[in-house]
Amino acid sequence: MNTTKKVAVVTGGNRGLGFEASRQLAKQEYQVILTSRNEMKGQAAAQKLQDEGLNVQFHHLDVTSDESSRILAQFIRQEFGKLDALVNNAGIYIDVQSNSNSIVNSQIETIEKTLETNLYGVLRVTQALIPLMKEQNYGRIVNVSSGMGQLTDMEGGSPGYRISKTALNALTRIFASELQETNILVNSVCPGWVKTDMGGAEAPRTPEQGVDTIVWLATLPPGGATGGFFRDRQLIDW
Ligand SMILES: NC(=O)c1ccc[n+]([C@@H]2O[C@H](COP(=O)([O-])OP(=O)(O)OC[C@H]3O[C@@H](n4cnc5c(N)ncnc54)[C@H](OP(=O)(O)O)[C@@H]3O)[C@@H](O)[C@H]2O)c1
Repeated sequence: MNTTKKVAVVTGGNRGLGFEASRQLAKQEYQVILTSRNEMKGQAAAQKLQDEGLNVQFHHLDVTSDESSRILAQFIRQEFGKLDALVNNAGIYIDVQSNSNSIVNSQIETIEKTLETNLYGVLRVTQALIPLMKEQNYGRIVNVSSGMGQLTDMEGGSPGYRISKTALNALTRIFASELQETNILVNSVCPGWVKTDMGGAEAPRTPEQGVDTIVWLATLPPGGATGGFFRDRQLIDW
């Protein structure tokens, strides 16, 4: 299936912010590839959006796997020949479950595992897919970060998660710098505290509110911002 539509990939699309970002991008007439590491959950999520009349298809992606990232890139090349937007949304927050919530007793294994998904996962998937953007000199890369990674506001607790998001912000800056002569724009976003499995029931924001800036960054016009960290469509400190 070829398309004249813009093509977007969302990682961790089966639930939470990734699911809602897939919905909102499809509503903006993007052909969305909703990816998930779990085949059944991903298929069900894509089906739900298809039932809403949206152009969404599922493809498997585990961001911790080189092979999985390579296969996804190959699929997009064969099916569409291009990629316009990549939302690096998949993430984990395991400090609390692993009893590693204080830096004093945090287990290095927990931090390594977190980095494997939240940092290397983004690097791996971006490296695999960026050639599809470079070939057309167009792309929007949105790294879903967190205020918990802000150095200006760094507090204690959740060291694995915090470190992973600070490092993710560094990735954003490095990619944006290397791509500054191109029409590939790379930004970080904090969605705020959002009611999802990760955010919990107490969170004040709905997923729809949470993805507003994500979708805005994924659809920036030429000459739009790059190398920034945004919340509510406004630049915030690193
Ligand atoms: N919710 C908040 O308040 C909040 C605030 C700031 C930042 N964020 C960030 O927003 C992003 C989305 O969070 P969320 O609240 O939607 O969390 P969530 O409900 O826990 O969803 C996380 C998603 O990431 C996926 N994922 C985890 N590891 C993966 C892997 N190795 N490969 C592919 N997918 C993987 C999960 O898949 P499974 O279903 O298979 O586990 C799930 O789809 C995360 O990067 C998070 O750090 C969230």
